[in-house]
Amino acid sequence: MALEVIDVAAEVEGRRVLDGVTLRVERGSVVALMGPNGSGKTSLAYVIMGHPRYRVVRGDVRLDGESLLGLPPHERARRGVMLAFQEPVEVKGVRLSSLIAAAHARLYGGDLTRPDPKVLEEARGYLGLVGLAAPMLDREVNVGFSGGERKRSEMLQLLVLKPRYAVLDEPDSGLDVDGVRAVARAIEVMRERGTGILLITHYARILKFVEPDRVLVMVSGRIVEEGGPELAERIERTGYAPYTGGSGGGGR
Ligand SMILES: Nc1ncnc2c1ncn2[C@@H]1O[C@H](COP(=O)(O)OP(=O)(O)O)[C@@H](O)[C@H]1O
Ligand SMILES: [Mg+2]
Repeated sequence: MALEVIDVAAEVEGRRVLDGVTLRVERGSVVALMGPNGSGKTSLAYVIMGHPRYRVVRGDVRLDGESLLGLPPHERARRGVMLAFQEPVEVKGVRLSSLIAAAHARLYGGDLTRPDPKVLEEARGYLGLVGLAAPMLDREVNVGFSGGERKRSEMLQLLVLKPRYAVLDEPDSGLDVDGVRAVARAIEVMRERGTGILLITHYARILKFVEPDRVLVMVSGRIVEEGGPELAERIERTGYAPYTGGSGGGGR
């Protein structure tokens, strides 16, 4: 069973952003997708989730063998694939606890208007793991959250909602080292549970805490290299310059 992207080409606003991308995320595995800014990583995440602005012009996206193309985002989520956003947005007037409970009820059945105490209890149980204080659950979603709190809150939601596959778009960006460790812990819990994870990241540092099963490198909407964890270490040393021909590489 796997989340598969098969030879996908896609456009946004008439602009080609993916150009023949193929990848496969098995359940219970972590596939790291690395690449420089603007290489198409977020575009791929949106194509997997079915963002309406992104048009798939070739290829297929399949969840356990069934095509997701043509299904709206909420239906894809219901079937078991969820996205943690690179830049989570504010949801004014909705408490984090209410959001989690409503999403849980939508996925697994239950009263959408009255939070299930068991779901709230489960959410509280994960606060320590992701490093959030209990009052966060009573606050409006992402309103006044620090960058790190937003990322931790995205992981908390996934821990409770238990998707079969999770696409994490730079869950480590803007986090201090404790934050990166917290996100890594959450990823390990999900992997052990059998969630397949596409871990999109610009930097190799989170991969010191989460050993990926595969590492893919994306440049200009294409997968240009594929390997094991050693590939992330190499990118940490050389940057992306060997792929882009530019000089944006890291130190030696
Ligand atoms: N809504 C959009 N309209 C026009 N261009 C876009 C849009 N979204 C993304 N792009 C372009 O697509 C390319 C890939 O962007 P993105 O997928 O966000 O890259 P990454 O996440 O790897 O930094 C960039 O050149 C970006 O400017
Ligand atoms: Mg991005």
